[in-house]
Amino acid sequence: MDGKEGVRKGPDMMEIGLVEQATVAVKDGKVIYAGPAENAPQFEANEEIDCHGKLVTPGLVDPHTHLVFGGSREHELALKQQGVPYLDILKQGGGILSTVNATRDAKEEELYNKALFHLDRIMSYGVTTMEAKSGYGLDELNELKQLRVTKQLQKDHPLDIASTFLGAHAIPPEYKDDPDAFLSEMLRVMEVVKEENLAQFTDIFCETGVFTVEQSRKYLEKAKELGFEVKIHADEIDPLGGTEMACEVDAISADHLVGASEKGIEKLGESRTIAVLLPGTTFYLNKNEFAKARDMIEHNAAVALATDFNPGSSPTENLQLIMNLAALKLRMKPEEIWNAVTVNAAHAIGYGERAGKIKEGRNADIVIWDVPNYLYIPYHYGVNHVNTVIKGGAVAYKRGEQLGRVTVS
Ligand code: NIG
Ligand code: FE
Repeated sequence: MDGKEGVRKGPDMMEIGLVEQATVAVKDGKVIYAGPAENAPQFEANEEIDCHGKLVTPGLVDPHTHLVFGGSREHELALKQQGVPYLDILKQGGGILSTVNATRDAKEEELYNKALFHLDRIMSYGVTTMEAKSGYGLDELNELKQLRVTKQLQKDHPLDIASTFLGAHAIPPEYKDDPDAFLSEMLRVMEVVKEENLAQFTDIFCETGVFTVEQSRKYLEKAKELGFEVKIHADEIDPLGGTEMACEVDAISADHLVGASEKGIEKLGESRTIAVLLPGTTFYLNKNEFAKARDMIEHNAAVALATDFNPGSSPTENLQLIMNLAALKLRMKPEEIWNAVTVNAAHAIGYGERAGKIKEGRNADIVIWDVPNYLYIPYHYGVNHVNTVIKGGAVAYKRGEQLGRVTVS
């Protein structure tokens, strides 16, 4: 249940600290005992939950989402079916840029209600800690608007949310011919983000037609000087070498990595940069080649998994589905998958000492599952196996119960 300290790299990803016939005791929101039932002290319990025949795990951690956005992109499905590539849709002013228009048009309150709806759904799939990026404003007013929505949700919602400034997500039409000037502007906005304490991380989309490896490197170096930990969307579609660069700038995570080179994979193993893999995105972009998770683990990398929840390349809140795809498409073993959505995912967003484990002294973030064992979830796909989500010792979601906060998406 607790197991080895720190992030789990390479072969350590097989370590899950499984306890059969366990007891978990919680007081004032914290775990006070977790271990074999036979060794548990006598507790005066106010409330007991009988978990016989059920699996109990740490709350899941989703370390890469684009939670706050306006509109949706169902009209792009027909283009995808005709085989129009994702980056061509973006080049024609659609894709991310169509969500930018919808986000700029939306009032803060609309964005808040919509994000709250998605957040509740994310939690209902067993997630208790997650990350949320901006990146659909692409100007000061609208990037700050998105980040303020995240900040309000951090206060109002039981989930823990790490916030990332992704101002460098695409080149807006007003800077079409001068991406460097746009990046300078985003660096200025980043100072405001820092002053207002609106994000802990900075991210950039390093991709053909968006930002080059060298532009990204310079941008992230400056972000570090301002005191941000950095993340990167790297080698998602074209293999540009963003994985190597991420390790060189000591990014906390490098995300996507479908086209990571052999050199990049070696560097991951030697660095502290966590590989956040997003097989839901590869699936939804209709690609045949998935990230080389096996090579990464064999080269001693730490792998995490995330939904990449967003309105274009991965419209799903279901982290369990990502666990299924990781088993089938990334050929990850069940133990590796559990570490990738708990311990390693927590480390990828700076929550390594707070989330991802059921451990004495930590917040009681726990999921009770309607399944007989831990192998079952990567196996039985497409449905929600959650029975109960406990966040900080309180029941935050129970199967069959309406969350009742907002009902529109
Ligand atoms: O992680 N690649 C860039 N960003 C997102 C997609 C955002 C969108 O299509 O709206 C991603 O895939
Ligand atoms: Fe993303």
